[in-house]
This record gives sequence, structure tokens and C-alpha cells, in this order.
Amino acid sequence: MNNKIEEIKNRAENEIKNCVDLKSLEDLKIKYLGRKGEVNQILRSLGDLSLEEKKIIGPRAQSLRNELDTLFEDKKNEFLSKKSRNSLDITRPGKKIKIGHLHPLTIVENDIIDIFKSMSFSVIDGGPEVETEYYNFDALNIPKNHPAREMHDTFWLQDNQKQLTRDTKQLTESRGSKVSGQKLLLRTHTSPMQIRYMETHKPPFQIIVPGRVFRYEATDASHEINFHQVECLMVGKDIGLSNFKYIVEQFYSRVFRKKLSVRLRPSYFPFVEPGLEIDIQCVKCEGKGCNVCKESGWLEVTGAGMVHPNVFRAAGYDPKEYQGFAFGAGVERIAMLKYNIPDIRMFYSGDLKFINQF
Ligand code: DAH
Repeated sequence: MNNKIEEIKNRAENEIKNCVDLKSLEDLKIKYLGRKGEVNQILRSLGDLSLEEKKIIGPRAQSLRNELDTLFEDKKNEFLSKKSRNSLDITRPGKKIKIGHLHPLTIVENDIIDIFKSMSFSVIDGGPEVETEYYNFDALNIPKNHPAREMHDTFWLQDNQKQLTRDTKQLTESRGSKVSGQKLLLRTHTSPMQIRYMETHKPPFQIIVPGRVFRYEATDASHEINFHQVECLMVGKDIGLSNFKYIVEQFYSRVFRKKLSVRLRPSYFPFVEPGLEIDIQCVKCEGKGCNVCKESGWLEVTGAGMVHPNVFRAAGYDPKEYQGFAFGAGVERIAMLKYNIPDIRMFYSGDLKFINQF
């Protein structure tokens, strides 16, 4: 019996070694270790043996079983790893990894920030989007019943207490009685940050404040209920319109990557005097006249002006001591001109066909 075990062992080892594929390995395993396999037959026949023989043959047959089991496993793993090595075709083109990217408005806003930083402007965090009537209107020289309030179709918040965000609550409470109990609204422009900044800082300074603003308007290709502005404010002792003209010219030329002239037109905003409308040379035809500028050669891009004395007073400055200029540029307007985007609503559509072009 011992010889038989030895014989099975040698034969099985040989056959496993020379086995060429998984299928024949499976067959071999059944032949030796299956229910009716050769090793089992020996184990079954133990009953016919004497006690002495059983003591020797039993453990020997068991260990043969274990040895073969290990050999089968090893061989199987050898086949499997070979298979996976062979299935890796290193010449096949890889799958493209999709990486995220910035939204066009973020790209433009970052660009604006870089340009102003390079001209020594500080970038101020946008401030609260839920604003008080005081900062959005009164302090900016737009008193109640002033017709200029109608230029801003406003989202008013219904119930002050319920709508107060933690931030706004802190901001309104810290300003004392002139703002507590104020009606709240979604800010219609970034100009309230002029007041908030001046209340806590002394001139001279030059800042920009990027932020989101809201208007209760019907939407169309050039109007959205929310959009972005960058407020710019420079205040000091000798600030004049010439400083302003240089800065806007630099700014728009650098945003559009070409030298563009600007034109200042008289306009009206309650928080500036004089108030101006800024036109830049058309970015497409550079002044010759085309469909983008409606043949005029100019594009209206932003409202601006010299800060109104009442605005300085509201912020606690002496208007005889300081002057400054301000403007509020629309980020969407710049992005639309820069990338030839025909409809402002595309920015918020979530349409990947649009977004993935940037
Ligand atoms: N806040 C104005 C608006 O949203 C834009 C503006 C005009 C901002 C004149 C200014 C300014 O700072 O001086 O329509």
C-alpha cells in the first residue's frame, strides 16, 4: 500500500507539472482528489486493513492529499497570473481621464483678480449676499422713494428674523441702531461693500470686491436674476478721473488681451458725482463697426464715477479730505464678449456641452 501511495504521488506530481491549461488541471484534480479519485479510494479502503497498517497508511494518505492539493493550487495560480499578464496589451491607447475644470465665470473672475493685484489693488472678500436696505440703498445716497431704487428690481426678504443668516445677523447687530431692524434684501449690486469697507478702513486704499448680485427681473439673453460684479474703489487724497481712466484702460486692455481705448460718457448713479458710463472700443472690430457693437465701434461696459460726498459722509469720512473713484463691472458681460457667448442664461444652464468647452 505504501508503494502504491508513492506511485500515485510521483505520477500526480509529474502530470501536474506537465499540465498545459486550466481545463486539464481541473480534470487531473478530479482524477486524483475527486470523490471517486485515486486518493479517496485509498482512504476508503483503509477499513480493510489491520490496525497496524491503518496507523501508517492513514496519515500517509492524508498528507498525500494535502500535498497534491497545494500543488494543484500553485499550478492554478501560475495559469491565472500568466493569463492576466497576457491580457495586458500595453500598446492599446489608454482611457482618457476626465479632469474637472473651472467654470468660465471663475476663469474670468480669476483673471480680473490677477490684473488688479498686479496693479497693487487688494482683493476683498465679497461680503454678505443678504444685505440690509441701509447698505444697499440709503448709505449709497439712494433714499427711500428715490426713483433710482426702481433701477434695481429688488428681491426683498419677507420675514426679517426667519431669513437672517448667522453672518448677516452678526453684521447688522455689530453696526448698532442704524442698521438693526432693517429690511433685508438680496443685494442688487456690490456697491454696498464700498460702505462696509470704508467703515472699517482708513484711506489711502485701492480695492476690488468680486461678488454675486441679484435682480428681480424677467430673464432674457442679456438679463439673469443673479449675476456677478466686481466693485472697484480707490480712495486717497489726490485721486482724480485721470487715475481712473488709466486704471480702466489698463484693466479692459488686459482682460481682452489687446490695446483698447476707453470713452467716458456722462451718466447718473446716485453714489457718484460725476457719474459716468464707460465704453470700450469694440473688442471684435476694434472700432470699425460690426454686429457686436451695432456699428457704433463702442461697447458700454460699466457704470462708474467719483465717489459722492454723501457716500463718504455715510462711511464716516470727511469728503473735503478725500476723493476717490468707483466702478462696478459685470463679470458675465466680460465673459460673453471674451468668449463670444450669445446668451447670459448659458452660464447657469448646467449644460455640459457648453461648460466643457472651457
Ligand atoms: N452699482 C451699479 C449697478 O449695479 C454699478 C456702478 C455704477 C458701480 C457706478 C459703481 C459706480 O461703483 O460708481 O448698476
